[in-house]
Amino acid sequence: MRPWLKWFIAIDTAIVAIFLAVVFTPVGEQRPAIEQIGDVARGQTLLNTAGCFACHTDTTEDAALAFAGGPRLDTPFGDFYAPNITASKTAGIGNWSLAEFEAALRQGRNRQGQSYYPAFPFLSYRSLSDQDVADLFAALQKTTAVDQPAPSHQLAFPYNIRLGLKPWRWLFASTQSLNIDQSTAIGRGRYLVDVVGHCGECHNPRNSLGAFIAPYLGGSRDIPGGLSAPSIVGAALERMDWTEEDLVYFLADGMLPDGDFVGGSMVEVIEHGTSRMPESDRRAIAEYLFSLR
Ligand code: HEC
Ligand code: HEC
Repeated sequence: MRPWLKWFIAIDTAIVAIFLAVVFTPVGEQRPAIEQIGDVARGQTLLNTAGCFACHTDTTEDAALAFAGGPRLDTPFGDFYAPNITASKTAGIGNWSLAEFEAALRQGRNRQGQSYYPAFPFLSYRSLSDQDVADLFAALQKTTAVDQPAPSHQLAFPYNIRLGLKPWRWLFASTQSLNIDQSTAIGRGRYLVDVVGHCGECHNPRNSLGAFIAPYLGGSRDIPGGLSAPSIVGAALERMDWTEEDLVYFLADGMLPDGDFVGGSMVEVIEHGTSRMPESDRRAIAEYLFSLR
């Protein structure tokens, strides 16, 4: 056989093998079944502090139907609409099992085994504790069922092809849990920042394919809505004359150290999220962020 032909066949075979491996590798990991019993009250609080309500409820509607589908999320890849996650058996997640919910939330895998788009922050939620997942599920099963589905996403080619997410995830995204120890204030703060509050979804810089890049929490220009989110590591906040105490109060009421109020999507993060956390959690977030140099 001619040498060039050998190379040709070898390269073709390699390309086909990589393609097949990527297409047939299951999305996410299999984790042991969750055995904890969900607590509805804790779950209701988490639905707010973790941002589920804000993304999955269109509060621009006159009569906002809680969890029946979100407002338009415009991104560089097109428009996303967070789906209906009410207890509806037809349009929502009323007939889902806890295992299916876990796979969606922590593994980014839908019931057909396909990947969700990372506009759904499962890459942050991958490290949610078993108890928190069980609580969220219990609370969602108690929501008022709305049988109307949310609008479908309007994405540009090639982003509208869900299969394209597989190579993306293979290249950029692990769904392994960070297993964050929450027994210290700093650990609790890290869990609230990286997982529940998913602060990095807006404050981490991303590459042109939407994957997180360094520096951690270093600020991002292209977040949904077109605003930019500044760096929030302690060293950067100190340069802007923030103290740890300023941050604790900011997370409760949105007031900046100069007396102005924050704007953009951060308003929602505070209104539904950090302001509803206990004071000790706001302190933990501040302590963690100020430990980052
Ligand atoms: C930043 C916005 C955002 C936040 C915050 C968010 N979601 Fe979503 N969620 C989405 C989008 C967008 C999708 C659809 C993704 C897709 O189609 O690939 C989605 C999909 C889902 C699905 C799958 C529904 C289905 O029909 O397949 C579930 C379940 C879900 N989210 C639950 C939650 C829960 C619980 C929380 C809070 C812990 C949450 N989401 C927070 C945007 C968000
Ligand atoms: C949905 C996107 C989004 C998420 C999630 C988010 N932020 Fe923000 N944040 C922003 C935007 C946008 C701004 C800038 C707002 C402005 O310019 O008025 C901001 C501003 C801030 C500021 C003010 C910085 C300054 O100097 O003005 C702090 C502090 C902050 N965010 C902390 C956090 C923390 C802590 C979390 C997680 C609990 C978080 N953010 C989650 C979008 C987000």
